[in-house]
Amino acid sequence: MCGIVGYVGERNVTPLLLESLEKLEYRGYDSAGIALVSVKGIKIQKTRGRIADLRKIVEDSGESECTVGIGHTRWATHGEPSDVNSHPHLSRSGRVAVVHNGIIENYIELRAFLSTHGYSFSTETDSEVVSELIDFCYAGDPVAAVRKAELQLKGSYALGIIFADFPEQIIATRKDSPLIIGVGENENFIASDIPAILKYTRDVFRLDERELAILSKKRVAVFNELGERVDHAIEHIEWDATAAEKGGYPHFMIKEIMEQPEAISKTIAPRIDAEGNILLGFKSISDDDLKNIDSIRITACGSAYHVGVVAKHLLKNWLNIPVSAELASEFRYDDPIVNERTLVIVVSQSGETLDTLYALREAKNKGARTISIVNVVASSIANESEEVLYTWAGPEISVATTKAYSTQLVLIELLGIRMAQLRGRMDDEQGKALVSAIKSIPTGIEEILKDVQTVQYVASLYFNSQSVFFLGRNIDYALSLEASLKLKEISYIHSEAYAAGELKHGTISLIEEGTLVIALCTYRPLLDKMISNIKEVKARGAKVIAIINNDDVQTGTVADHIIRIPACEQIAVPSLTIVPLQLFAYYIASLKGCDIDKPRNLAKSVTVE
Ligand code: F6R
Repeated sequence: MCGIVGYVGERNVTPLLLESLEKLEYRGYDSAGIALVSVKGIKIQKTRGRIADLRKIVEDSGESECTVGIGHTRWATHGEPSDVNSHPHLSRSGRVAVVHNGIIENYIELRAFLSTHGYSFSTETDSEVVSELIDFCYAGDPVAAVRKAELQLKGSYALGIIFADFPEQIIATRKDSPLIIGVGENENFIASDIPAILKYTRDVFRLDERELAILSKKRVAVFNELGERVDHAIEHIEWDATAAEKGGYPHFMIKEIMEQPEAISKTIAPRIDAEGNILLGFKSISDDDLKNIDSIRITACGSAYHVGVVAKHLLKNWLNIPVSAELASEFRYDDPIVNERTLVIVVSQSGETLDTLYALREAKNKGARTISIVNVVASSIANESEEVLYTWAGPEISVATTKAYSTQLVLIELLGIRMAQLRGRMDDEQGKALVSAIKSIPTGIEEILKDVQTVQYVASLYFNSQSVFFLGRNIDYALSLEASLKLKEISYIHSEAYAAGELKHGTISLIEEGTLVIALCTYRPLLDKMISNIKEVKARGAKVIAIINNDDVQTGTVADHIIRIPACEQIAVPSLTIVPLQLFAYYIASLKGCDIDKPRNLAKSVTVE
């Protein structure tokens, strides 16, 4: 999604903004721009295309030495990617420039309102209304103007704002869209995400909902909605800038696939003691609360939702209560029936996905207990849920998630096992055996990652496929959803995941000579059924790659190719099965020459509906 950066200090701001914007490229964007402010006024440079295009425009126009500015990468929502629709937006008066992340839902009404006061608009965006509205509200006091304008804005926003009359400051504010403040010596920053400014400062804090910050070279003053001064504790970022670099790999995605053993180890380590007991460390939700839960609803978007689909099967069996996995964008508008005995688990890498955040709020408003599984510390979802379990996957830069998915999966499993123990559904020994199997997952994944040749080979045979079907039953179906998403999002090959038993109710008509079918055959109780399904598609000309357990001697006799996962306990199987499928998607996309880390039209952190 859109990225924001801003700087006030002593450095030449232009190269700094361009470099910081490059660090946000992974979020996905289609245009970029910067606005500089000095005593001479505000200067805007923006363009459709890549940062490299913007850099060229800036260089061709000649260096301008300025020390205060804001920058933006736009991911189009309202209006096509074009020069004019790009941010920053400068008010017609030339007094106010704005970068905006989010969506202004009432922009049509506001445009109409401002038009009656002589304002006119040149873009198709919702964001242009913000610069004009602030301009309309401006009577010499920037903070008063921003606060007055905010009262009229509906929707979500993170804003970086500069005023021509105040060339030594930036104003930042947010609602339902993240924004961080970076603190330096004689310089301060705003950014959508930490990697943008990590080169310059490791001291950051997150602006809370509806807070407003005034940044000048020497200080950052933050105020809440009531205008009261707020002090934020500074978070010192420990991870090295290289954690957000490719480290010798051609793409972040493959680097992050390779990091999975370590990410899983780091995620589970703080949750398991030396005796194999699970430590949830909850403060608001007691053991008794967990015993009293009578249903669980897992809600999330995309791959995080797919984690929920796997977990639904496991948790339902362990706990013997209804467990559902639901898309957050559906859940939030479905008037969900929940109460204080419902546990709503929300899963999110970024902790900022708007639909997931709103699903969480909906659940809380209706009295459900809430636990989030989140990667980004102190993100909105982490802050707003009753309890948070952090995945310690480190920064995930590739748009297509891999290590966040894997760490979410093990963490939700630990939560389910602990609940089953508390509720007397699993004795200590059973729980500890499962924990020990979870602890072995990193080793199993390492084994897969040591030998990627088989996956590379089958990818080389099928990278020209037009369409791919993933089939599985039960947990294998849940994994198929993720495997299919992985392939389609980065390789642009049409793919679908099907519950294998459902295929013959219509979709089998699409199977023809040479159609690639990937059959997930690791769910032992239904292996015979899967073998029958493989035979059905083979009879219609399909080519079949089967993902199988190490000891499976049957499937290889019907499939064209097999990929074996190492021998492991049953609970480790899903975590291992997904890895060759991530690799398959990666190698196919790589052979097709796709822009793997930044697939077209996609964004890393989806902060709009
Ligand atoms: C797919 C992918 C997305 C995210 C989804 C939720 O590879 O990464 O489907 O899983 O957008 O994002 P988070 O986890 O940040 O809430």
